[in-house]
Amino acid sequence: MAREHWGSRMGVILAVAGSAVGLGNFLRFPGTAVNNGGGAFMVPYVISFLLLGIPIAWCEWTIGRLGGRYGQNNGPGIMFALWRRAPAKAIGTLTLVIPLLVYMYYVLLEALCLRFAVHFFTGGFSELFDKAAAAGEGGATVAVVEASGDFAAKTFGMSENGAMYGTSMLWYVLFCFLVNFIIVYRGVSRGIEKFCKVAMPLLIGCAVVILIRVLTLDEEVAGRTISGGLGFMWNPDWARLQDPEVWLRAAGQIFFSLSVGFGLILCYASYLRPDDDVALSALSASSTNEFCEVVLGGLIIVPTAFLFLGPGNTPDSTFALGFFTVPAIMYFMPGGAFFGGMWFGLLFVAAVTSSISMLQPAIAFLEDGFGMKRRSSVVVLGLFTTFGAAIVMYFSMGVTALDFTDFWCEFMMILAALGQVIIFGWIVGAKKGVQEANRGAALRIPAFMAFIIRYVTPAFLLIVLGLWCFFNGPDRLRDMSPTIKGVAAERGVYAAKIAGRSEYADLDESAMDAKVTEILGVAEGVPVSAEGLPDWLGGLEDAAAAAHSEAEATANVARFVFLGVLLVFIVVLVLSDIACRNRIKRMLDQVPDHKASMEALS
Ligand code: ALA
Repeated sequence: MAREHWGSRMGVILAVAGSAVGLGNFLRFPGTAVNNGGGAFMVPYVISFLLLGIPIAWCEWTIGRLGGRYGQNNGPGIMFALWRRAPAKAIGTLTLVIPLLVYMYYVLLEALCLRFAVHFFTGGFSELFDKAAAAGEGGATVAVVEASGDFAAKTFGMSENGAMYGTSMLWYVLFCFLVNFIIVYRGVSRGIEKFCKVAMPLLIGCAVVILIRVLTLDEEVAGRTISGGLGFMWNPDWARLQDPEVWLRAAGQIFFSLSVGFGLILCYASYLRPDDDVALSALSASSTNEFCEVVLGGLIIVPTAFLFLGPGNTPDSTFALGFFTVPAIMYFMPGGAFFGGMWFGLLFVAAVTSSISMLQPAIAFLEDGFGMKRRSSVVVLGLFTTFGAAIVMYFSMGVTALDFTDFWCEFMMILAALGQVIIFGWIVGAKKGVQEANRGAALRIPAFMAFIIRYVTPAFLLIVLGLWCFFNGPDRLRDMSPTIKGVAAERGVYAAKIAGRSEYADLDESAMDAKVTEILGVAEGVPVSAEGLPDWLGGLEDAAAAAHSEAEATANVARFVFLGVLLVFIVVLVLSDIACRNRIKRMLDQVPDHKASMEALS
């Protein structure tokens, strides 16, 4: 079968930029920046962009194009072509597993964006908010924000496992699957490239229109203006730079937003011809992403949330900001019904350009590694991702499954990026790698980049890995223990009642903790015994027991996700090993210049 290639340089840049530009730019970035020092966040962010984002992108583009020369479009095959050792297969496996797992929850968020766009355009939100504003006593803002949150939580089935199946989301998810799979079925150049060539200008155009609308808002709400909102978003809080967690968030944002470390760029770049430019293309795709993120993402949502809803209503999490708050903002914004529909419509398109890139690596693996035809690989992948997404959809309570899948993917992304940088910097050799990157380059990568890729980026990644384990590890491990979670939830019920008593109203957090321990008679982490509790805490036993079992169920979902992720990794590793030993190895051995060129490189 003849290998596929991109149709044009602009096409591949837009496809990679499309893969990068997504919900991370428009939802995750604003919330993360505003909660991690505002303008000051840009310091670790820009440093991470220069020392992680750009070098890793250059590595991925170069390794991908090199792998394509050996007939490989799949992560394990590409890594194995460059390094005939077992760790190469594991690194390649990561570049397959990450996009697959991310797809399983990303597609649900994509469907939610579409659901919201349709609800806006059909006037559903206006009706809902008019009712809420009329019923809400003492303030339309609070009522509308609450109605928006309730709608999002209900649509996404956040109150109960399985609840999402009872909403129209099922149809929206099916529709998203259909759109994504039709595009990838059509192939790299006829499907992905064609779609991104239309979708990218369209979504950037829509975002610019919304930005102009936002920046020309001359409303004054309770003394707040849109320029005050810009100040709120971007005023630097320099003290936050001393907090290592802020640096970790910045690095994490760069990973997710640029799609580096996912294996997506690797796969897309493998469809380049050997002399196609990678240096300038990587830079152009990354810059397009940054424009969308910092200029469009950074100037639209948080400033408007500040203006219309006030500083207390600009939540930090992607989910809360995007789906709980934005509809409410649009209600108050002149022309908001139209701009709201447009906003969620553009988010949907941005999500599609990203989600199709998450499917392509596995399609390429099934084709290269097992000789499957496009049709069968699409069917196999369709069944597998439907199964995975159905599980994430089922465990929708508190978005636990989604949250934990994202958590493990973040961990694997750091490892995959480290693996790719090591292959580029140490196995291929950084100097030779940069020379290879400069072949056919429209802009030459400076020689000092070899030093950065060999030493600085891996060291930075190791620090990020260490910080990641330090800040996330203990809490997440506790979250996977039903006993610890259950006992804590039970204590929480009693603690809430204690905190509600007027005589304790003035206690600060640690004094309150001490008071709770004293009244309950047991330290944190020890089950509360109903005997010996004061009378006024009596009657809470049932509520405490219910909270206990709900928390246990959540912890079990977290464990289930961990085992699921591990299982997927092991299965894909075994498949990669089989493919590398058989078909991929035979393909590599047939490439006449493979041995010689590998020797020349290393
Ligand atoms: N890079 C993609 C995004 O930002 C995954 O959403």
